[in-house]
This record gives sequence, C-alpha cells and structure tokens, in this order.
Amino acid sequence: MSERQGRRILLVVGGGIAAYKALELVRLATKAGIAVTAVLTEAGARFVTPLSLQALTGERVYQDLWSLTDESEMGHIQLSRAADLVVVAPATADLLAKLAAGLAPDLASTLLLATDKPVLAAPAMNVRMWEHPATVANRELLRGRGVRFVGPDEGEMACHEWGPGRLAEPAAILAAIEAELAAGAALAGRHVLVTAGPTQEPIDPVRYLGNRSSGRQGYAIAAACAALGARVTLVSGPVSMAGPSCVKLVRVETAAEMLAACEAALPADAAICAAAVADWQVAAPATEKLKKPQTPMLSLVPTPDILATLAAAGPSRPPLVIGFAAETNDVVRNATEKRRLKRADWILANDVRPETGIMGGAHNAVTLITGEGAETWPDMPKEAVAARLADRIATALRAS
Ligand code: C5P
Repeated sequence: MSERQGRRILLVVGGGIAAYKALELVRLATKAGIAVTAVLTEAGARFVTPLSLQALTGERVYQDLWSLTDESEMGHIQLSRAADLVVVAPATADLLAKLAAGLAPDLASTLLLATDKPVLAAPAMNVRMWEHPATVANRELLRGRGVRFVGPDEGEMACHEWGPGRLAEPAAILAAIEAELAAGAALAGRHVLVTAGPTQEPIDPVRYLGNRSSGRQGYAIAAACAALGARVTLVSGPVSMAGPSCVKLVRVETAAEMLAACEAALPADAAICAAAVADWQVAAPATEKLKKPQTPMLSLVPTPDILATLAAAGPSRPPLVIGFAAETNDVVRNATEKRRLKRADWILANDVRPETGIMGGAHNAVTLITGEGAETWPDMPKEAVAARLADRIATALRAS
C-alpha cells in the first residue's frame, strides 16, 4: 500500500521581475499543506535569493545542474519525479522556448524535460514577447503536449506597457495548482463526509456536557481525503484547530446539530464518523442559568446516533460508512460487535485507556475491522493513520 506523505510541487522560478511573487506563492502553498521543492534559474536568482526561497519552503533550494552536491543528494531525474506537479512561475519566454525545443542547458530546463509529472506554467513577460509569433508557437506546441497554463493576466507591466503578460496572482496560481493536484488524484470526483471533535450538550445557557476529544484524528482524515482530491465536508464539534485547507468546514455544537449538518451534506461517497459524540443530552436544558445553592437533577436522554443513522439502509446511504470504536477493554471484540450493531462497513478500533496516550495525543494504534476481518496497524502519527485510511477508501470506492 502506498503511504502518501502529502502533496508536493516542484516549483521552477524563472528570471523576471515577477519572480518576487513566487515567494508569496510558496507562502500560500505551504500554508495550504503543499510541500514545495524550489528550483531557481540563474536569471531567477537575480530577482529573488535562494535564501528567501529556502526560508519559505523550509527546504534546500536547487540551482546548479553541475553541482556535485545537488547530484549526490538528489539526482535531477529523482528531483523531477518526487513531486506530484511541476509548476513554472514565472515561466519566462526563454524557459517556454527551451521546453518547446527540448533544450536542457541548465537544471530547470533539464528537470522540465526529465519529469514524468504534469507541468503547470504561469507565464510572465513583456506583452510583445508574449505576442511574438515564436512565443505563440511555443505555447501552442506546449499546450498540445499537455502543459497547462494559468494566466498571464492583462494589465500594466513593470515596463509600463499595457496588455497580457503579467504573472497571474499567486492565489490564482494556487487555485490552478489545487485543481491540477486534485484532477489526477485517487479520490477525484468523490465527496467524503467526516465528523470530528466532541459535541457539547447544553445544561443551561453557560454549561454543557462534553468530552476531551481534540478532533485531531478526524481533521487529519479530512485533510488526507482532500489531499487525494476528494471534495470534503468536515462537520466538526468545538475544537481549537483551524479547518484544513480545501475542506468545507461546518461547525456545530450538539449531536442533533451534527446529525442535521451530516444529512444536509448528503449524498456522499463515504462517511467517516470520527467525532466523539456525547452519548447523552439533557432532556430539557434550562433557559436561564441554573443557580446555587440548589443542586440540579439532570435528566438525560440519548443523543441521536449519527453513525447508525448514516449507515441505515436507504437511498442516501453512502456506499462506504466508517466508524470509530474507542474501547478500554476487549477492543477488537467490542468493535466488531459495534460494526454489526451500527451497520457500519468498517470500524477503526482503538484502545483509549489513559496509559496509551491516544485520546488527545498525536499517535494512534488502530485495528481496521471490515467484513473480511481485523487488521492491526502499527502505532503511527494520526496523520499517517489518516493517509492510510484515505488510500484504503480510494481503493474500496474504485472497486465498488
Ligand atoms: O457508540 P459509540 O460511541 O461507542 O460509537 C462510536 C462511533 O459511533 C464513532 O464512530 C462515533 O463517531 C459514532 N457515534 C455517532 N453518534 C453518536 C455516538 C457515536 O456517530 N451519538
């Protein structure tokens, strides 16, 4: 099984006044969870420094085809293939011409010839260069070979001329990158619904019943499915984390709100119930704050079971419904029984005794229980559990 480590682009920064915008692009991309390996052309290095790119990517920057360290640490073939997408921004007339002609005099052009990954070019050049028949022919040739283009924008250029040739805005380039990454991905075209975090069931306007769930595993699953190209709706109880990028985050407080948000999000190809839903709610929450010295008697009633509701047979049942079973004893036996009772397709069982450090922690050790049996995964970071689960979901949906 492929253990995906997230999305990565190889960014070739060509030489042009717009190269400074590549820095903003790197900032946006890394913020969106996309790792960036940067390659700077000789001309590009006249406009931005390798140090700036290194600081923003958090990785070393590659510049020289002939440097022994570049080659010994990572050969150019490997460098060109370790990413999911090659992005050229700014793509100068010179870089486009080299690629069209198959010339490879430097590291950037060599990588562009050697790569087996899709190439997205964000051109930036003077309007006359953009409209020159040579550039027009080159870009048509490259389009025909599958190179995608974003921009250029039309407007006033650094040289004070007007017309098409300005580098597309970094946010627009990022959107094109996201679309390219999603198009070839294993969950492209799928809608995945994820629940995460605790629920809070009101006692009165200021107090609630809740639990210690951090939401971390559910958020990681939402991010991992989005990284494989899924459209993700993440229905989350109150947590302190920001929502992952490229995910539709629906914030709720109570189990009833969570169920309503899930039902509103249907249809979905898969539903993953990772939320630690409160098991009980107060039958009639007080409308005014309860006052001491009386001790209130709370009358509790069960909350709706979201997993069981989503998994119940019906036209809107997602083809794959997955639940979690947090257990402190007889983990696999109890979780297998839970799978049967709730009619879930899969259950991820975990041992949440305090000494395991799983509840609220960074790691998780799960057993995946399917119709075929139980499969125990080694202890790993919650993000790795999420990536592995997303891969399994993609495989199962492909087969269904
Ligand atoms: O019944 P129990 O809480 O042990 O089941 C855990 C699984 O059921 C989890 O996947 C959880 O998200 C889901 N669940 C739910 N709604 C509830 C209770 C649990 O979706 N009210």
